[in-house]
This record gives sequence, C-alpha cells and structure tokens, in this order.
Amino acid sequence: MPRRARPRQKVFVTRTIGRAALMRLCAAAQVMVWDEDMPPPPTALRSALADADGVLSMLTDKIDARAIAGAPRLRVISNLAVGVDNIDLDAATRAGIAVGHTPGVLTEATADLAFGLLMATARRIAEGDRYVRARKWRTWGPATMLGHDVHSSTLGLIGFGAIGQAMARRATGFGMRVLYLKHSPEKRFAGAIGVTLPRLLAESDYVSLHVPLTPKTRHMIGAREFARMKPGAILINTARGGVVDQAAMVAALKSGHLGGAGLDVTDPEPITPGDPILRLDKVVITPHIGSASIVTRASMAAMAVDNIIAVFGGRLPRWCVNPQVRLPPLAGNRPLK
Ligand code: DGY
Repeated sequence: MPRRARPRQKVFVTRTIGRAALMRLCAAAQVMVWDEDMPPPPTALRSALADADGVLSMLTDKIDARAIAGAPRLRVISNLAVGVDNIDLDAATRAGIAVGHTPGVLTEATADLAFGLLMATARRIAEGDRYVRARKWRTWGPATMLGHDVHSSTLGLIGFGAIGQAMARRATGFGMRVLYLKHSPEKRFAGAIGVTLPRLLAESDYVSLHVPLTPKTRHMIGAREFARMKPGAILINTARGGVVDQAAMVAALKSGHLGGAGLDVTDPEPITPGDPILRLDKVVITPHIGSASIVTRASMAAMAVDNIIAVFGGRLPRWCVNPQVRLPPLAGNRPLK
C-alpha cells in the first residue's frame, strides 16, 4: 500500500529570520524563504502567495487587496512587526485570512531607541561624532556644539500605548515632566499629565510620536501642528514616517521653528537620496531599527511562527489583529514534495 504523504501547509517567508524560529516553522510546514537582502518585488511576492497557505511577512511587503485576491489558499498573514499598515486588513478579513503581529516584545527596545534619538538630537551626538571624524576638533570651546537640556525639560507623548508609556518611564528617570493626550484610550501612567493636543504642542520641548499609521493618523503632524509647537522644540518619530507631513517638517526645520528631529522612520523608506532632510545637521536619522536588538528580533520571529502554527491548528493567531475573521477550513493537505 502506498505510504500517505504527511499533511503539510506551504508558507512563504519573505526574508531570512532567526534560525530557531525558522526550524520550528520548517517542522510544521513546507517553507520557502526569500533569502535576498532586498524584499521580494511585488510580482515575486504575488507569485509566491498564489500557492501559499501562510506568509511570514515584513513591514516592507505590501500585502494589498490585489495580492490577497490572487492568493486563494492563504489563511494566515503573520507580520514580523507590531505595525500592520503594510496589509489591507479589510481585504484579508473578507477573504477569511487571519492577520497576526508581534506586540509587546518590542516595547522596551523601541522606547530605548526613541530615547536615544532624543538624547542624540538634543545633545548633538551624531553631529559631534561627524565633527571629530572630520578632524575639526582643534580645542575645547565654551560655545562648541551647545545643545539642549534633556533633564528638567518637558516631553509630550502623542500615543500613550505600551511604547509611549515605556518612553514616559525613561523620561521620568531623567527628571522630565511628561505630558500625554488627555483622551488617549490607554491606561494611565501615574507620572504623566493628560492635556489637549494644543497644550501638549505648546508646552513640550520634545514631542515623541507613538501612534500606529492609519487613515486617521496619516499626516497628523503637519504645518498647523508644527506652528503650534514651542519654538526650538524637537520632534522624535519612531512610529511611522507617514504620521508626519514630511514637507511641512522640512519647512519647519529650515525656518528654525522646529529645533531638530530624531527620526527612525521616514516617508518613503528608505529616504530618497536627494531628500533635503539629509542636508540638515540638526536631524538624526536611523534606518527603522527601533526593534532591532538581537533578543527582540528573535522573540518577534518566535511569535510570528507561533501565529502561523496556531492557524494551521485551526485556531486564531495568538496575537491576532483581526479576531473577527471567520477562518474557513484549510485549503486541503498537500503532499510533501
Ligand atoms: C514594528 O514592529 O511595527 C516596527 O516598526 C518594526 O519592528
């Protein structure tokens, strides 16, 4: 009697992830890994999804309605990120596809980077490094590279979820006064003061963004908000580039009204080589590395794999973005190739 092939689902992994997580996924499914440095181009992504039961995706993979329509077997999209603005959630839900993400584990790492950008921008750390390497450091000077105090200043948090509150904890340790938007739905952090947006903008020396990118938050910081900010204030963005109207930010930086910006995210990503921001010394930019610590990325990969395995076991992902989804049965078992 011919041996029956073991049932296996097919998963497309759009970049190389940590070995331990990948091995676990390989034990549960047929896995195809896109192992290039650059993400799969849209056509390659669509063609891989056409035959996949699951995808372990990155924030660089645009999984839109067209990609979803061309993926009849797909049951789970597991994003290696907490943000899911690269995925058309409505289209996924309508198609019976569960969407998973990786909240929680990256909170502290992202807040560390946000606070690091705040320090680097305020105290001109990256600029000072460039100055020394350019051999411009000839003596100690009483007015060399003067920056802004972090201690005893005011931090305004737009977005007061896990990452915003982790930022608040760091700030109180530095003796800062912390403001957050009064109507934030999230639980309160004892040391912070709830205020309105105009007051937050007017009183903060540093404004740090911690909201997801949605149609509501796109360009929520634009010319009007910059004009309301305290002259010389500094903007920190570790959320998504699209939350800020970048042209308005450049204008505010050039006029001097905005004193500086610490950016881990831009719009688009990567930033275009000719972008005027790159010529502004008072801007510190990192390449979207908020969660990029070794331990955090390993935990994110483990969660992303757990999310896929759950769906293959007939359950919702443990960290599910669209729990209202109605999961149809898997499209059928396929023999191992
Ligand atoms: C996220 O998870 O959304 C970050 O931007 C990348 O870790």
